Amino acid sequence: MVEKKIILDIQNLSISFQQYDKGFARTDLDVIRDLNVTIHEGEMVAVVGSSGSGKSLLAHGILGILPYNGVLGGTILYDGEELTQKRKEALRGNEIVLVPQSVAFLDPLMKIGPQIRKGKKDPASREKLNQIFEGYHLKQEVQELYPFELSGGMNRRVLVSTAMMGNPRLVIADEPTPGLHMKMVRRVMSHFRELADQGAGVLLITHDLEQALEVADRVGVFYAGTTVEDADVRDFDKEETLRHPYSKALWRALPQNGFQFIGGTQPYVKDMPKGCPFGPRCDKYCEKCKGEIPYRKLRGGKVRCLYAEP
Ligand SMILES: Nc1ncnc2c1ncn2[C@@H]1O[C@H](COP(=O)(O)OP(=O)(O)O)[C@@H](O)[C@H]1O
Ligand SMILES: [Mg+2]
Repeated sequence: MVEKKIILDIQNLSISFQQYDKGFARTDLDVIRDLNVTIHEGEMVAVVGSSGSGKSLLAHGILGILPYNGVLGGTILYDGEELTQKRKEALRGNEIVLVPQSVAFLDPLMKIGPQIRKGKKDPASREKLNQIFEGYHLKQEVQELYPFELSGGMNRRVLVSTAMMGNPRLVIADEPTPGLHMKMVRRVMSHFRELADQGAGVLLITHDLEQALEVADRVGVFYAGTTVEDADVRDFDKEETLRHPYSKALWRALPQNGFQFIGGTQPYVKDMPKGCPFGPRCDKYCEKCKGEIPYRKLRGGKVRCLYAEP
């Protein structure tokens, strides 16, 4: 079998915010530490984490659209070469597209049609957009409207349409389907799947593990700003094939596994425990877990836990 080429390789990514407190003392808020994600050609990788775990920041870090006080560390390789800010700006909207979490990313002053077509007026672009709109049950008249004239659900479908317009090599979809009906969610997901099947890399960012398991090839489990596990989707068939206690907890919380939730909450950046961020909620937590935890290969995946068994 031919090894598929790696499109995106994120190694030990960190994102922190510099903040100035009273008296001009600077504090760094380390929101993301040690984040690792690899996406091959034709692969759909889901990054699954609860709200506030840093998922949108990950998307914005890849695209080079972090807020001014956000500092990026670690390495992002795109096609084997470092993805510098300059390269991000050149590729963004062409080879690399974002389906943002917020509809606020739409330009309020530009009509929908020209906005999605990026001003292109040729018959082929018009025809393609017409087809996409038909697939998403958007009337063609919508192209003549402004974002404020559309419902939330319509704007969301407009955002997804933007990604379908070009021939992206890397799609980053940040919680692309909230507020959509189940049927529409399935359709959107199957379109992302098609993009992957045609060779693109797709990063699906979601808090919904069930949704991820339906379409993705691999799952990166994300907890409090850190990747704790990289697993094949099939590893989620059984609890035993998973590696990290947080992934196992997510598995047990699935409806088919009885909605068993664990106690406690994800720690906030300012009161992050030393070492393993999941430690305080884990039965195996001990002194060693408060130190450095390597991200290691295990059974065809990866895990950041000292106790994960072979
Ligand atoms: N500009 C910012 N300055 C400081 N903290 C921020 C900023 N943007 C986001 N954060 C913090 O980073 C964390 C992760 O945010 P986000 O990536 O939006 O999470 P998610 O998308 O997983 O819900 C949150 O705790 C949020 O408060
Ligand atoms: Mg988000």
